[in-house]
Amino acid sequence: LATTLPFKVADLSLAEAGRHQLRLAENEMPGLMALRAEFGEAQPLAGARIAGSLHMTVQTAVLIETLVALGAQVRWASCNIFSTQDEAAAAVVVGPDGSAEEPAGVPVFAWKGESLEEYWWCTDRIFDWSAEAAAAGADWIGPNMILDDGGDATLLVHQGREFELAGAVPEAAADDSAEFRVVLETLRRSLELSSDRWTRIADELRGVTEETTTGVHRLYELHARGELRFPAINVNDSVTKSKFDNKYGIRHSLPDGLNRATDVLMGGKVAFVAGYGDVGKGAAEALRGQGARVIVSEIDPINALQAAMDGYQVARLESVVGDVDILVTGTGNKDVVRLEHLLALKHLAVVANVGHFDNEIDMAALEALPGAERIEIKPQVHEWRLPNGRSVLVLSEGRLMNLGNATGHPSFVMSNSFTNQVLAQIELFTRPEAYPTAVYVLPKHLDEKVARLHLDALGVELTELTPEQAAYIGVPVEGPYKVDHYRY
Ligand code: NAI
Repeated sequence: LATTLPFKVADLSLAEAGRHQLRLAENEMPGLMALRAEFGEAQPLAGARIAGSLHMTVQTAVLIETLVALGAQVRWASCNIFSTQDEAAAAVVVGPDGSAEEPAGVPVFAWKGESLEEYWWCTDRIFDWSAEAAAAGADWIGPNMILDDGGDATLLVHQGREFELAGAVPEAAADDSAEFRVVLETLRRSLELSSDRWTRIADELRGVTEETTTGVHRLYELHARGELRFPAINVNDSVTKSKFDNKYGIRHSLPDGLNRATDVLMGGKVAFVAGYGDVGKGAAEALRGQGARVIVSEIDPINALQAAMDGYQVARLESVVGDVDILVTGTGNKDVVRLEHLLALKHLAVVANVGHFDNEIDMAALEALPGAERIEIKPQVHEWRLPNGRSVLVLSEGRLMNLGNATGHPSFVMSNSFTNQVLAQIELFTRPEAYPTAVYVLPKHLDEKVARLHLDALGVELTELTPEQAAYIGVPVEGPYKVDHYRY
């Protein structure tokens, strides 16, 4: 792969189709459009150079163009090999005022169906600002902000810097996954070209804003080990993110993915949902809404009790696996569905994951199973014929199926998430002194602001406190209305 390309997407001629979708999405993303109106003139992100790694969908395109409208320079990759919508990627590269012949938008490195090698190459590209440096007549510039989803961009900087300090990339690492071997290879090539590239980038970064549960988990771990190199804002734990996108987003996009992939009727079937966190709650509700009989599994007694009180059977997968028609994982944990489960499922049961990484279902064990045969029904839908004579249908090779088999969450819910992202980018970029290296969440008044920006579009009439009522419950009339530990 050439490294001098200013962008790499599937097909720029898709830009017009993408632009139509962006236009419709803008109407469904009132939070982002309100930020453009509020901050467009002040340009709070002027000087920000954002390396973005987040599913390259239509909704992300509106996010990217909002960051640009607020003054930022941006480079972008997707955070999953299957999640790019090629028409959205093309539209972002061409930009609102460019053409396929003369693209005038943002450099994007993403297409649907990347190999792992291509995926990490794309992630590497968002850190290469040599084209921007040349345009500015500078020797070198790097990004000064990361916008991450799942933590892969953040991981590359931290690992790269660690190996530079050690002077070499180790032959093997504690994480022996196929994917991590590709990361090592990517960094090995990088180290051959420069011995201090990632160190310089880490020094220059003002911070990262992280989108999802799994990425946030990685950040807290890095910080606890004393290894976090720059401040981070945990966008996921804004209430208007995880309690909306993770739950209502999945409630919409999980059945969408199931329908586009297989079109099997959900009504009357036995569906199993592993994990009853925000994502699991949305998944279970959607499946029940379609008339499926839903069984939930949990390791946490609080969530297990919640699921039971919401009316679901709560069971271990091994206790009920022989009855399951549709199996969905959304735990953020690994090895949740193992080979013994896959072998015990009903013939042609559908197996799908909506947790961030592809290790929730032990695909490696399935791939290594002697006598198992993989038949492509269509892209991202595979029948695995098992040696016991039965088959299972695996969606998106065990990766996020709501993005691989469908187009991810709809615009309105992503407007909530991405309004938090933009506010978090503004916070970290404009007030670095307020954020010594640690992991933060946005203050509650901003969380409430995000929600407020989405009320009019839904015709919500909010009740106003009288000063007497406000004094009685001990909150300001204009909010914030809840203590920080309130759980909603
Ligand atoms: P969460 O922490 O709220 O919920 C996960 C639940 O899984 C927890 O209640 C935990 O107790 C449970 N769990 C852990 N190990 C388990 C096991 N072995 N068996 C059964 N239950 C188990 O996290 P959240 O926000 O629901 O996210 C879950 C995953 O989905 C994360 O990887 C997150 O990054 C991802 N995500 C995916 C989205 C998508 O569009 N597909 C959107 C948002 C998040």
